[in-house]
Amino acid sequence: MTFITANGVALRKFIGMSASIKNDRVEWLQGPAGNSPAKCLAVPEERKNPWRVVLLGAPGVGKGTQAELLIQRLNACHLSTGDVFRSASKRLACEQSPAMKAALEYMRRGELVPDSTVWEMVRERRHCLLNCGGFILDGFPRTLGQAESLRELMENEKLALSAVINYELPIDEIVQRLSGRRTCEKCKSVFNVKDRPPKVEAVCDHCGGHLFQREDDRPAAITVRLEAYERSTAPLIEFYKNLGVLLTVVAKGSPEEVFAQTMAKLDRLDKLDKLDQVDKLDQVASHT
Ligand code: AP5
Repeated sequence: MTFITANGVALRKFIGMSASIKNDRVEWLQGPAGNSPAKCLAVPEERKNPWRVVLLGAPGVGKGTQAELLIQRLNACHLSTGDVFRSASKRLACEQSPAMKAALEYMRRGELVPDSTVWEMVRERRHCLLNCGGFILDGFPRTLGQAESLRELMENEKLALSAVINYELPIDEIVQRLSGRRTCEKCKSVFNVKDRPPKVEAVCDHCGGHLFQREDDRPAAITVRLEAYERSTAPLIEFYKNLGVLLTVVAKGSPEEVFAQTMAKLDRLDKLDKLDQVDKLDQVASHT
């Protein structure tokens, strides 16, 4: 498979290339500069049946880790609202809009950013949702309001979600994952001091960048985030179950094991969809 960059350069896709894709993403995450729209520099190639997937689950359950594995396999665009906000926090204060400054304060405390700010930021990147290679949404939607906005946008564009994957994990394991997480400040790769340590302490294996602990991974903010999840995001499980697109994956085991479970569910869905299409074709044929 190949990626086409904004410059039209075709890049062969393999696991070891993830760091260069991420470096492209770093620029894209900065968002619109002046009047130019936010651009995804590593645009997935067009696919006949692109995957349009939402990753759901409590903070720290492993959505970002799975998203990185899934984009390599499904060749889809990755949009993480948390990454976009964190990237905005690196900008100079004079470059941050008042709404973004307020959003970063919510984030530091572990609270959810208001829907209007989140939706504005997602709309700036709507090409990511509409591209013909599909998408992996990680951390969005997170409230019923955001889910309704997404549904409306997709209905208007005559697009459908392929699946919503809900990752489940006991709370004590979630807290352990969050408190041990370290993130690369350059390419955003994620490590865990206990389970997935870097080869050299505090140095990214992929790009040599410095690894830091997120402000919202400190104990007080973790408690607030878990409460916000229960109150605002957990109701989305029922919402997507009612829409018939929910798949549940128990996020225990290594990232590779969780990924294998995820792919098994998606492959099964893919086969069912194909069967469904054959049924429909048979029905069409018998009526002509
Ligand atoms: P966001 O960045 O989305 O954070 P989150 O949802 O809280 O999720 P995390 O990134 O903390 O965890 P994750 O599930 O991705 O786990 P990860 O793979 O890193 O949002 C941050 C903030 O931004 C929010 O609190 C809010 O303020 C704001 N925000 C963002 N989107 C918003 C929205 N739509 N609406 C409103 N506000 C919004 O893994 C965690 C750790 O576990 C890592 O160390 C990893 O190495 C390790 N790990 C992963 N998988 C495994 C495994 N299988 N085994 C062992 N360790 C593992």
